[in-house]
Amino acid sequence: MQEQQKKTLLYNIIFIVVGGALLLFLLRAPEENTARIPYDDNHQRFYSMGKKEAEKFCESCHNQTAEAPLPADHPPKYRCLFCHKKVESNG
Ligand code: HEC
Ligand code: HEC
Repeated sequence: MQEQQKKTLLYNIIFIVVGGALLLFLLRAPEENTARIPYDDNHQRFYSMGKKEAEKFCESCHNQTAEAPLPADHPPKYRCLFCHKKVESNG
């Protein structure tokens, strides 16, 4: 093999390996570890509601002065149910 052909082959291999790694990285499903909404007396009624409707009620208990305050490092809380899923539905 000529020197130039070797280089071209090497570049092609690098291209494929890097491209494959990137693709794998992008395809990997994001981790789903955000706490789910418990299915208990406090939350059961939300399971039969639409997301937007249910979200009106969350902050009556989950505010800084109520019984179940959000953690101090909680992310922006617009639309609770986008992040906190109901327990039985997987997405
Ligand atoms: C009637 C009061 C009340 C309302 C309304 C309420 N919660 Fe809660 N929630 C609680 C209490 C108390 C806890 C902590 C004890 C527990 O796990 O049930 C809690 C816990 C949680 C947790 C943490 C579960 C865990 O694994 O630590 C999540 C997530 C949550 N609520 C989401 C929501 C969302 C989303 C809504 C609105 C749809 C909502 N809650 C409405 C009282 C409430
Ligand atoms: C952008 C995504 C996102 C949104 C929107 C969001 N949360 Fe969270 N929430 C998180 C993350 C991440 C955590 C911390 C990790 C965990 O414990 O799940 C958390 C933690 C919590 C906890 C404590 C859970 C525990 O185990 O101690 C409660 C309660 C909670 N959120 C309620 C709410 C409520 C109520 C709303 C709407 C007002 C809301 N969240 C909106 C992502 C979100």
